[in-house]
Amino acid sequence: MLRVKRLLDLDVSNQRVFMRVDFNVPFDDEGKISEDTRIRAALPGIRYCLENGARLMVTSHLGRPTEGEFTESDSLHPVARRLGELLEREVVLVRDWVEGGVAVEPGQIVLLENCRFNKGEKKNSDELAQKMAALCDIYVNDAFGAAHRAEATTHGIAKFAPVACAGPLLAGELEALGKALESPQRPMVAIVAGSKVSTKLTILTSLAEKVDQLIVGGGIANTFMAAKGLPIGKSLVERDLVGEAASIIEKMQARGAGVPIPSDVVVATEFAADAQARTVSASAVAEGDMILDIGPQSSAQLADIIAKAGTVVWNGPVGVFEFDQFGGGTKTIAQAIANSSAFSIAGGGDTLAAIAKYDIADQVGYISTGGGAFLEFLEGKVLPAVDILEQRAR
Ligand code: 3PG
Repeated sequence: MLRVKRLLDLDVSNQRVFMRVDFNVPFDDEGKISEDTRIRAALPGIRYCLENGARLMVTSHLGRPTEGEFTESDSLHPVARRLGELLEREVVLVRDWVEGGVAVEPGQIVLLENCRFNKGEKKNSDELAQKMAALCDIYVNDAFGAAHRAEATTHGIAKFAPVACAGPLLAGELEALGKALESPQRPMVAIVAGSKVSTKLTILTSLAEKVDQLIVGGGIANTFMAAKGLPIGKSLVERDLVGEAASIIEKMQARGAGVPIPSDVVVATEFAADAQARTVSASAVAEGDMILDIGPQSSAQLADIIAKAGTVVWNGPVGVFEFDQFGGGTKTIAQAIANSSAFSIAGGGDTLAAIAKYDIADQVGYISTGGGAFLEFLEGKVLPAVDILEQRAR
């Protein structure tokens, strides 16, 4: 049970509300927002404040800028525009907001520029947090995507604000994910894909103890293939983690669970949008080849596993799906999830992009706005931003 104060239980009329959201959205090559799920997901909390007469200040991080320096490429400017479109009102972006104080009328909203431009944000400085807390009567955290970060706007400010509460997105994510993972329907299948084992080693190790099938994909799968003694050519691989991969496979097998290893793969000699794709047996990858997707036989095998699953957790595409010739595996998995009666949970930026590309959003049980936070939650870690809200509610 989530023991936090909730925004939707509070009277916000005329109150200065400081809301931390996660608008860390992806951009395309032309600098346009390519995927706005995180902005749309924060609208209920924002609307609640506006409809109930709050003086609303909203802020987010975007990227990882150098603190103390303004960089146009990390500005929330495009986000302010998109938020304005969605709310059908102008959203003013305030550049220097920590020292100056922020004037907002009841029922109005301002967006405070990228909070990671402020010195002390990442290090969770008390001095900065106190200054920010002084700007508000109520602090709202509605940034599930950043809940695994203890920074001044996700953690420190919650210590000092007069009231600290969870917005509906944060509370909703924690409840939905918690419920789905508490006693999941079996068999439980996890798909963990991405370029590196090292960035997902803890989640792989922790899921290896919980799930019935652990499907690995992308560069992660290459390291597992190497652990099985398969040739992987010049594919992305982490040789120093081959031993870890082998021990995960062994651990899973020892308790009757499995890590399906691809039997066929799609390769190319270069990583490029127009690279020539070839499907080969997993045992026939040549030295000059790079594995960029799983093959149709492997995809069909995984689709079958997903079809029989009770719960599916999906984080990461299994191939370079941005290039269609290497998107077959991810497309098959997406469709298998859409068609499966299993309860499915998906999270992570690339996963959201794949869900959008293959148009299956309506057929996924729950789509999380979290990437790293989603993974840490799955691992069972305490999320610092939630922890402090719970402390404040005691
Ligand atoms: C994310 O995209 O996972 C969150 O916004 C956190 O971003 P960060 O990894 O830069 O803290």
